[in-house]
Amino acid sequence: MNTYKIAVIAGDGIGKEVVPAAIEVLDEVAKLDGSFQFEWTYFPWGCDYYLEHGVMMPEDGLETLKQYDQIFLGAVGMPELVPDHISLWGLLIKIRRGMKQSINVRPAKLLAGLESPLKNPQNFDITVVRENSEGEYSDSGGRMHSGSDEIAIQNAVFTRKATERAMRYAFELAKNSKGHVTSATKSNGLTYSMPFWDEVFDDVKKDYPEVQSVSNHIDALAAFFVMKPHAFNVIVASNLFGDILTDLGGAIMGSIGIAPAANLNIEREYPSMFEPVHGSAPDIAGKGIANPIGQIWTGKMMLDFLGHSNAGDRVLNAIETTLASGIKTGDLGGTANLEEVKNAIIENLKNDT
Ligand code: NAI
Ligand code: MG
Repeated sequence: MNTYKIAVIAGDGIGKEVVPAAIEVLDEVAKLDGSFQFEWTYFPWGCDYYLEHGVMMPEDGLETLKQYDQIFLGAVGMPELVPDHISLWGLLIKIRRGMKQSINVRPAKLLAGLESPLKNPQNFDITVVRENSEGEYSDSGGRMHSGSDEIAIQNAVFTRKATERAMRYAFELAKNSKGHVTSATKSNGLTYSMPFWDEVFDDVKKDYPEVQSVSNHIDALAAFFVMKPHAFNVIVASNLFGDILTDLGGAIMGSIGIAPAANLNIEREYPSMFEPVHGSAPDIAGKGIANPIGQIWTGKMMLDFLGHSNAGDRVLNAIETTLASGIKTGDLGGTANLEEVKNAIIENLKNDT
């Protein structure tokens, strides 16, 4: 029996509600599978911790996390009391960068029983591989002068190493799923970074002659996500392009409350971190009405990464069966609460043999 040591950071707002629900589902699927179990360790880090201690996590927080196999995170943010840049950089980004989680993976897939805001979504199933360590989100730059002379410079940093790593990960995914790869570029507007991106893409694709690939400009790609999302399979994108595209991906699925994400250390040198796309949703926190599906699907991604994709598929099937039976939270137009959705998913897990 494999035992996985998971560090749990429920965080703030609805993170505190959806994380326990997802853990119940994961424990259930582990029990049904029988070949592994989870050992959860809870860390009370986040904005409450900040209000008490003046930091989002302890000084040695990263060292502590390194002792775990993976990190399961809800959401952080309490914008009324703690500025977002403090909560984001003091915890989330600190962990992503400190643990070298250089790849962010976000699927966008039309689930059975869900209505997409698109008129004719067909059956799309996209995985966006986003470079997670550099690109447009670098801290190189500066501001000078003031008033009408004021200048702001924000440099984008693209290294061959990180670019190639993201692209190879995308091609491996496509190769294993008999899919194809689309590269998000903008080499008609950005004259240094994106021609470089295209060159690296052309180099990497030579190693995958069996995988079809194409480059699309990011603006056209955004339009295609609305017009023909079913045309895509794996997409590799820079940090900024991937960020924007994955919010759009969440939107065409039907709600941000269901969208999952993984921050991967693909070298497996440090733990990876699994967290849904949505935030702490202060507007609905504490009411028991948050949609737990984003967090539960995120748990499926953790199962996949741990090598238990059978168990992961069972979780996704149980989610789809639940949605198809009409048990949905308010964000999806339903009337069920979090508890009801979670219980239905667990029932469907047990019934699917
Ligand atoms: P948000 O994702 O928390 O909420 C946006 C809207 O979606 C709200 O109306 C909310 O009620 C709804 N929503 C989100 N998740 C839902 C769910 N599971 N079920 C039902 N409805 C859901 O984004 P917002 O409002 O911009 O940010 C709130 C706080 O969360 C901020 O402090 C922000 O910095 C933080 N945040 C944290 C993230 C993280 O920890 N990874 C990601 C995004 C935002
Ligand atoms: Mg975003």
